[in-house]
Amino acid sequence: MIKVTIDNIPVEVEDGTTILQAARKIGGRVVPPAMCYYSRLPGTGGKCRTCLVKVVQSSAKDPRPLPKLVASCSTPVLDGMVVENNLSEEVIKARKGIVEFLLINHPLDCPVCDQAGECDLQDLSYSFGFEGTRFEEKKREFPEIDIGPYIKLHMNRCILCYRCVYAVDQLTENRVHGVLYRSDVSEISTFINNSIENDFSGNVIDVCPVGALTDRTFRFKSRVWYLKPMDAHRLCSKCLGKVTAWMFGNEIYRITGRKDQYGEIESFICNECRFEKKNIHEWVIEGPRKIKRQSVISANHYETLEKPSIIEPIKGAMNKPGKAEN
Ligand code: SF4
Ligand code: SF4
Ligand code: FES
Repeated sequence: MIKVTIDNIPVEVEDGTTILQAARKIGGRVVPPAMCYYSRLPGTGGKCRTCLVKVVQSSAKDPRPLPKLVASCSTPVLDGMVVENNLSEEVIKARKGIVEFLLINHPLDCPVCDQAGECDLQDLSYSFGFEGTRFEEKKREFPEIDIGPYIKLHMNRCILCYRCVYAVDQLTENRVHGVLYRSDVSEISTFINNSIENDFSGNVIDVCPVGALTDRTFRFKSRVWYLKPMDAHRLCSKCLGKVTAWMFGNEIYRITGRKDQYGEIESFICNECRFEKKNIHEWVIEGPRKIKRQSVISANHYETLEKPSIIEPIKGAMNKPGKAEN
């Protein structure tokens, strides 16, 4: 084990751990924001620069600081390393600049965006954004691309974090979409049409940190803060069948994977569970999902509500969770 200090808090971690993972071990406000890193998708990170931190001491053997801010998601810790996140004015200034860049071409869609209320970019803007904008030019716009009946692509909202590219690459047999072109004309390639014809393609919705990829079966149905997130499960032959069912009364409005405090899903779910099972009788409702992250959703006190009363599983349609083959 090696010892590292982040914002004056010491922590012991295994060799090879990144600064971000070490900060997550401490938890709370020490953890840098991450818009492109996704712990369950190896290879992600190093794209968005929101997780920059300052290394004020490289290691116990070499007490010199690193000359530039480093991406905490892809920089491994060394024994005796001392890192500053919130304590560094340089880091806060850089993060504000990155948020300003991310918002330069981002549309002001929050009032009509299905991601609102659970959007990482909204949270980041709230913490580090400016009230106004210095950008006077016309925002970049992309032509609309139809990628099928289940997933809606809003390219104008994409921050090019590559998470959906890694998700499709790692969850499906063929990688057929990626980022085309360079600089401010970069875009998720049109071959995304092919990637979504797969049983696990719906997971790109959950991994997307913004509202660039959203659930068409839930589109404009409700704001997320009006819904109650409930843990639910069913016997599924394709995935574990453990989901969060977003409910209004006894109606299921949408299904997502179960997300942890960093907004990352615990296990990827199949499209059948996500898009085709909206009848409450097809699920065993376990009870309110505890939203661990700071969110408008956890502010509506849904956890004190009792779980819906009518839920009687259809005989044979459900079973205990975790029995299905993945
Ligand atoms: S992606 Fe987030 S910041 Fe962008 S419009 Fe949607 S809710 Fe607002
Ligand atoms: S569509 Fe979403 S997940 Fe894919 S690169 Fe854009 S922001 Fe990232
Ligand atoms: S989360 Fe580290 S660069 Fe994006």
